[in-house]
Amino acid sequence: MRIQNPVRLAIASCLLTLIPLSVTAQFAKKEDAIKYRQSAFALMSAHMGRIGAVVKGEAPFNAADVQKNAAIIATLSELPWPGFGANTEGGKAKPVIWKETAKFNGHSDKFIKAAADLNAAAKTGNLDQVKKAFGATGQACKACHDDYRDK
Ligand code: HEC
Repeated sequence: MRIQNPVRLAIASCLLTLIPLSVTAQFAKKEDAIKYRQSAFALMSAHMGRIGAVVKGEAPFNAADVQKNAAIIATLSELPWPGFGANTEGGKAKPVIWKETAKFNGHSDKFIKAAADLNAAAKTGNLDQVKKAFGATGQACKACHDDYRDK
């Protein structure tokens, strides 16, 4: 009968570690998920700004730099979304996101595609193509913010 206590303890500690995991998927706390997605957006914004300066003619066109930034944006475009798991409402994210998951995911998919297109355009080294793809990517950011981000 002695064996029961350690077994019970083991089961109890397993359950304890499982509870936070089931609440926020890959994040220990809701705040961690919010911070993670906000950090990804902040980085995305910084690298969009670098290409934006070139597109607006405020910085010289250096194809290699644009390629580097576009590749980073394409990678970052995949990151924020796991940070919107169940029970992670907060920050400037509108609560309706968690009611319209399919529509929100539609926006993020469209944006990921736009960022991939921008990455492909950057690889051509053609500024006109970069401008066009950059505009479409910016539109994808804005379309989602209009519906799902608090001002
Ligand atoms: C599918 C929706 C969606 C797309 C696409 C999207 N965002 Fe956002 N963005 C959000 C939401 C929602 C928040 C608020 C997150 C929060 O506060 O928890 C946000 C927050 C931000 C923030 C503030 C981050 C902070 O530090 O609080 C910036 C900057 C930002 N987004 C930039 C961008 C840029 C630039 C793009 C495109 C390159 C983009 N976002 C694409 C939904 C989106």
